[in-house]
Amino acid sequence: MTTAGTSVVHARAPGKVNVFLKVGAVMEDGYHDLATAYQAVSLFEEVRASPATDFSVEFSGSIDISGLAVDGTNLAIKAARALARKAGYRGGVHLDIEKNVPIAGGMGGGSADAAATLLACDALWGTSATKDELLAIAATLGADVPFSFTGGTAIGTGRGDQLSPALAKGKFQWVLALADFGMSTPEVYQELDRHRDRHAQDIFPAEHQPSVDANVLQALRAGDPHMLADVLHNDLQAPALHLAPGLGKVLQLGEENGALAGILSGSGPTVAFLVADADSALELQVALSASRLRVVRATGPVHGARLI
Ligand code: C5P
Repeated sequence: MTTAGTSVVHARAPGKVNVFLKVGAVMEDGYHDLATAYQAVSLFEEVRASPATDFSVEFSGSIDISGLAVDGTNLAIKAARALARKAGYRGGVHLDIEKNVPIAGGMGGGSADAAATLLACDALWGTSATKDELLAIAATLGADVPFSFTGGTAIGTGRGDQLSPALAKGKFQWVLALADFGMSTPEVYQELDRHRDRHAQDIFPAEHQPSVDANVLQALRAGDPHMLADVLHNDLQAPALHLAPGLGKVLQLGEENGALAGILSGSGPTVAFLVADADSALELQVALSASRLRVVRATGPVHGARLI
């Protein structure tokens, strides 16, 4: 229940594309050891938090929001509850979330909801948590939540939640082809494991830690889309294509219509195309839309979670 006449705190957090993602061995906690390069992109989740006695969430937005859980299993509610627990806050919050990042698309939309919720609730409740405290809570909520909190360009290791900033110049232009279905991240990882089991020679040795290619860091530092296009890589792409073979056609269509390169975003099914400039982005958007794909454009890197 919302308390009438009280202030609302507005926070915003971005979605992401993984421009490089290498998956290592399964760790003791069941997660895979990762090396990834994240880029925050200009699709933002807008979270408005208002005082309430309990915890509730409502969605609106530019994308189809049907089927989103609004109970305690929702990541934004989990984020608010986690902060309340940590800070000893006894009240609740009502969250209004405007979604612009594709749902179950591999772009970290749920993670962005959680990151913005942490910031909004901290301000609303006056809990004055430090950035490190909020990041520690973020890491308990999901592998991508800390990155949505920090934004920009960063290297993620461990589950993807151990972040170190990466230097990046300029803005990269992305054209994102959205699927009309979602994909389950655990299922894509399981498909990768099955593939590695079937081809024993491909099993990632546990002692061998994955790392981000130096060429990726160089391309990001140079701000050069042509260089970056040559080194885009995602280990989750092959297993995702195995589960959803139609995505292969989408990748092909983009590359035939001016994309420098296409890559599955995270565990998919969103396909991210890197283009040379804003004009090529528009042309590609028109071409993909003509093939009845839902397409949005975005630029990156952008800032992480912040109060508006
Ligand atoms: O942390 P998050 O909830 O986003 O992860 C979803 C699922 O993806 C995990 O439960 C796990 O199955 C898989 N995952 C993984 N290794 C990672 C990140 C995610 O196996 N580093």
